Amino acid sequence: MEKKKNSCSPSEQTPPTESSTIKRIITYSKNTQTLSTQQTKSELMIPTNLLNTLEHTARTTFDEAKEAFQHGNNEVTALQTKQQAIKDLEENTEFSIIGKGTGRVAVTHTCFGQFVVKIALYSPRNKAGFSIDGVSQNQQELWTWDNLPESLQHRFTPVESIHANGRLLVMPTVTTNEEEIPYGVAEEFMNETKLSLYNHDWDAIELDIHTIGKRNGELEVFDYGLPVEPSESLSARGDDRIYDYRKGPRIS
Ligand SMILES: Nc1ncnc2c1ncn2[C@@H]1O[C@H](COP(=O)(O)OP(=O)(O)OP(=O)(O)O)[C@@H](O)[C@H]1O
Ligand SMILES: [Mg+2]
Repeated sequence: MEKKKNSCSPSEQTPPTESSTIKRIITYSKNTQTLSTQQTKSELMIPTNLLNTLEHTARTTFDEAKEAFQHGNNEVTALQTKQQAIKDLEENTEFSIIGKGTGRVAVTHTCFGQFVVKIALYSPRNKAGFSIDGVSQNQQELWTWDNLPESLQHRFTPVESIHANGRLLVMPTVTTNEEEIPYGVAEEFMNETKLSLYNHDWDAIELDIHTIGKRNGELEVFDYGLPVEPSESLSARGDDRIYDYRKGPRIS
């Protein structure tokens, strides 16, 4: 089948619908001064027709998969629904899949190669009591990015924008090529990041070596969809397994 061409040209874009593009309301109030202009431009960079195609995919990978699961309580059907939608995107459009996780699939396109869009997948599962579904993870990632202490921001890949109520999240592309990220260096970066979080009274549910990428020669955490938050708000959510960098894992 011939691949559907998606134009990069703004003139061929369809107008955004009210629901499809949720404008980023939160501005970078903490660091307006240091913000590069690139960070404010992503909504212009991703043509609306491409966002609409991705939103259509997300309606299947998230909403329809959720419905399939809830109706039949059948994880296999939900999984097939997600896989078919991603396969359709891969085969019938010019998007390329650059990584698959449990809650999100990252895709890119020649129109915006320096960015990925994380498409939400539905999952009924939890990790340490926190939902791993793609919408929850995308919303969490945005929250963390917008609230991170300024001195920690360079350690995390910025969230550029979020669309369709969290079904899509845009961030710069990092390399995850292991040859460019020696294990020991990544491990050291991870430990330093955890310590810096601790020094700000923050905690993380899941930060490991597999969440580190490289961009412009610097290491960054590109997957922080499970909570990275002030320790106080994390413990208020009542999880016993949160790692406390001072005392080790809490044992209940
Ligand atoms: N900014 C990025 N640049 C390049 N690749 C990315 C980026 N973000 C995600 N990916 C790729 O997409 C995959 C899935 O993304 P991500 O890890 O954010 O989703 P997840 O659902 O949290 O995955 P997991 O189940 O592994 O925790 C990653 O393993 C990585 O290969
Ligand atoms: Mg993850």
